[in-house]
Amino acid sequence: MLEGRKVNLRIVEKEDALIVAEWFNNPDFSGIYDPLNEQLSRAEIEKKYDKLAPKEKWFIIEKKDGSKIGFIGHFAVGEIFEIGYALIPSERDHGYCTEAVKVMVDYLFLSKDIVRIQAGTNVENKASQKVLEKAGFNKEGIMRKALFVRGKWTDTYLYSILREDWREPKILTKATSM
Ligand SMILES: CC(C)(COP(=O)(O)OP(=O)(O)OC[C@H]1O[C@@H](n2cnc3c(N)ncnc32)[C@H](O)[C@@H]1OP(=O)(O)O)[C@@H](O)C(=O)NCCC(=O)NCCS
Repeated sequence: MLEGRKVNLRIVEKEDALIVAEWFNNPDFSGIYDPLNEQLSRAEIEKKYDKLAPKEKWFIIEKKDGSKIGFIGHFAVGEIFEIGYALIPSERDHGYCTEAVKVMVDYLFLSKDIVRIQAGTNVENKASQKVLEKAGFNKEGIMRKALFVRGKWTDTYLYSILREDWREPKILTKATSM
């Protein structure tokens, strides 16, 4: 488990398949700026999880009382690591996602010999842009018509944080086995 101050990131286990399926299938979870997820059964989610690429990992974002409030994951585009995240609507705007992203960035730079982490976000998704900027990412540019959202191709901003921008751990207080 990766521990921050307000949230922990806990690797997804088989028994989380139900909640992950509920979240992924719920349009309110992915929000209005991200594509609607393909509807998947719990069994399909489990199968998908079993077949993740080696550099892809899924984590549950938990509050300190153990309540599950969201999802954050990393995957690789070639040698580059990319992250994605979402919170349940009732837990938004408390700084939880910003902390989850900081914990993830600390973890990736501390554990992997990488120089760059990136994230893409719909140009209209101000909350996500704020999260990335507060976590030390820089806006690099615009990717035109990169996301199919609710029947329309929309532009996204590409953000990144380089190892030299990061310099040292910001928030990861400890990594523990469960
Ligand atoms: C994007 C998301 C993960 C942010 O999570 P969160 O825990 O609410 O984020 P935080 O509270 O850490 O930070 C959000 C910031 O955006 C700000 N914000 C929220 N809505 C905003 C808006 N419409 N315009 C401008 N700023 C906004 C908040 O005030 C906060 O900034 P502050 O800390 O300076 O007050 C959450 O909104 C979500 O799950 N959305 C749906 C899924 C999604 O869009 N995922 C990202 C895909 S790239």
